Amino acid sequence: MKYFNLKTENNFNSAILYAANVIKIGGVVAFPTETVYGLGADVLNEEAVKKIFAAKGRQADNPLIVHIADKNDIFKLAKNIPDWVIGLTDKYWPGPLSIVLEKQDFIPSAVTAGLESVAIRMPDNIVASELIKKSGCFIAAPSANKSGRPSPTKAQHVMADFKDEIDVVLDYDNSAIGLESTVIDGRGNYPIILRPGAVTIEMLIETCGYAESAYNKSLDIKKPLSPGMKYTHYKPKAEVLIVYGETSLMAEKINDLYKKNKNIALFSSDKLAEKTKVQKVITYQGINEAANLFYDALRLFDEQNIEIIICEEFDYKDIGEAIMNRLKKAAGEKYL
Ligand code: TXA
Ligand code: MG
Repeated sequence: MKYFNLKTENNFNSAILYAANVIKIGGVVAFPTETVYGLGADVLNEEAVKKIFAAKGRQADNPLIVHIADKNDIFKLAKNIPDWVIGLTDKYWPGPLSIVLEKQDFIPSAVTAGLESVAIRMPDNIVASELIKKSGCFIAAPSANKSGRPSPTKAQHVMADFKDEIDVVLDYDNSAIGLESTVIDGRGNYPIILRPGAVTIEMLIETCGYAESAYNKSLDIKKPLSPGMKYTHYKPKAEVLIVYGETSLMAEKINDLYKKNKNIALFSSDKLAEKTKVQKVITYQGINEAANLFYDALRLFDEQNIEIIICEEFDYKDIGEAIMNRLKKAAGEKYL
């Protein structure tokens, strides 16, 4: 694996050219995006795409998102695109919104896991867009973590999960948002959210007049669901517990647990952390910082061999909806 630090060395352009060439010749490159780091390969190269699945240990029935650097490329990749989808791409691309559409025939089934649809996204990150442009390829990329591990928001997280199974790591900025993109189904008359993210249902309703969520519903509904959502994601090694309620009552419960087990950690607001005796604490100011720190916190606590990570519940609004979606999976829905 070749590592390039684009922040400090004077090699921004040459590193991107090197990585773009690796993509062109069928290699696998980890790169930053504003949501999480991605692990990319040329969409048209089935062997390269298979390397991503092998490196991650990803189930073959879980399709990859295709990343583009030019909005108009949506027309090359998809067909029968509704007007409201173009309204959304005008407003939110580049940005944390992936749109599932009917695929054009040339897209290999290795990318779409045999589906007739393809998820498309235009990331808002200079390294990601330069890599796509310089490679001259569409880049298929899942998050750059081993399947089941918390998603990577820093190059360091990518390096912790992979060694020589991947060819290049481009280390640039930490992911500004810190949670994966919103995935919507764009094949109907309005957006159906398959995975919540920074583009919220309120934002979709504002632009399109109407939107629905499908990720909380059972798997047997007729509406198409995102295959990835059925797998247990985002799991650290530690047990994760969610705590909610009035601050002093939460603090009481946490302190009771701490009396029995000193090897616990807390991810919470300052207000709650101050009232507890827990020593290993990561706090945030507001919901956006919480989203940004969440996966990093899970990984940091794992490195410290923490047994139980307690996370304070978030309001289900703004990006809180997306954090709670990931948090409930990490916790297996368990509450303190
Ligand atoms: O923010 C993101 O979306 C990041 C960065 C790297 O772009 N990527 C990411 O990829 O999170 P991944 O593979 O970890 O998650 C992609 C999700 C999975 O749940 C997958 O099942 C779903 O998108 N997906 C991909 N193609 C789909 C399709 N054709 N139909 C339905 N769901 C699809
Ligand atoms: Mg992922």
